[in-house]
Amino acid sequence: MLKKAGVAILGLGVVGGGTYQILTEKREYFKKTQGVDITVEAVLELNKERALSLGVEESKIAGSIEEVVSNPNVDIVVEVIGGTGVAKTFVTKALMSGKTVVTSNKELFAKYWPELEAEAKKMNAGLFFEASCVGGVPIIRTLQDGMQANKVLSIKGIINGTTNYILTKMANEGSSYEEALKEAQRLGYAEFNPTADVEGFDATYKLSILSSLAFNKKICIENVYREGITKVTKEDIAQGKEMGYTLKLLGIGKDTEKGVEVRVHPTFVKNDNPLASVNDSFNAVHLVGDAVGEIMLYGRGAGALPTGSAIVSDVIFAAKHDEYFYACFENNTKGNKETKFVSDFTSKYYIRLTVLDAAGVLAKIAGVFAKNDLSISEVKQVAGTDGKAQVVIVTHISKESAVKKAIEKLASLEEVIEVNSTIRIED
Ligand code: HSE
Repeated sequence: MLKKAGVAILGLGVVGGGTYQILTEKREYFKKTQGVDITVEAVLELNKERALSLGVEESKIAGSIEEVVSNPNVDIVVEVIGGTGVAKTFVTKALMSGKTVVTSNKELFAKYWPELEAEAKKMNAGLFFEASCVGGVPIIRTLQDGMQANKVLSIKGIINGTTNYILTKMANEGSSYEEALKEAQRLGYAEFNPTADVEGFDATYKLSILSSLAFNKKICIENVYREGITKVTKEDIAQGKEMGYTLKLLGIGKDTEKGVEVRVHPTFVKNDNPLASVNDSFNAVHLVGDAVGEIMLYGRGAGALPTGSAIVSDVIFAAKHDEYFYACFENNTKGNKETKFVSDFTSKYYIRLTVLDAAGVLAKIAGVFAKNDLSISEVKQVAGTDGKAQVVIVTHISKESAVKKAIEKLASLEEVIEVNSTIRIED
């Protein structure tokens, strides 16, 4: 029998518009392929002209959230406003009224998942968030419904399209960070204030959500180490390229015997790593499960129709199910006390130094590495001008704390003019 569901969309920006378009244009298709008849019963959008231009009937433009949540024809509320201000108020009101919520809001979800979930459970409402992570790539449902047989050992991904666009442009065209950012802004990938993307906050929210699902443990934002791409230079990207590496902003989660490791930072990957060829604004997530082995999902992490695709998949799922499921781990704001985190993680490191080009300098630098129990796997020296040289050192797997100590010592040496950069390498 055809199931019916009425939807309200809060916010008709890029993603709200894409969601509206998919739901209205494909209504008949969903009836045939999914056995659900989904109608848009209300929209909440301050810009009435925008709503009308998308084809929304005037009678469906609501004047307030109260009007939306008291509408008996609305079963599912789609929140695509973003941020944690009105979005949080509206989502909470919808859940309190027993409406199922579908959201694309990673910040809201990463910060307030426990309290939103508690409200949803109380009201037996659904709470869906496929579009919050990696846009159109169905990573949430893969983790929830496709990987149950596995203990997920690691999740590594390019989970922010803006920074991937910037890094790709720097690599392919030799642009500086500033030039690439400007172009990303011109194309609408980066916002006027790009902080959330370039400083890694967006990726941190996503990694917090994804690693919680992957490892069945609450991983709070505060548990995720974060470093953005603002200090990345074209010199390092070019140097890495010569040495066989591609620079990406990776979200990395590992569930090891020593504990959970979760971090977002610029990372060199070998050119033959599948993540190295994920370019422009594309996203990808690589998973390792103990039964299935490796899986990789690739696609668009943003945009009207890709993100709309993820939202509509949640809407259809909600319309087809009468009973909802929630996180299978203790979902609280502090995380589970028993979860151990690895604070001093290990990695390979790429370190670039500007040094005096004189006898004994390299030996002195090597001595600092030896003293800190750091084993060097590769050294490259490029002669410069004015008696200076560039030295690039790649370590074997080393402890982060030992590398930091060595860098401090190197920076204090007379022979070292500057420690230009330290970049982790992921195999
Ligand atoms: N700004 C994000 C990105 C898209 O660049 O990937 C939404 O999270």
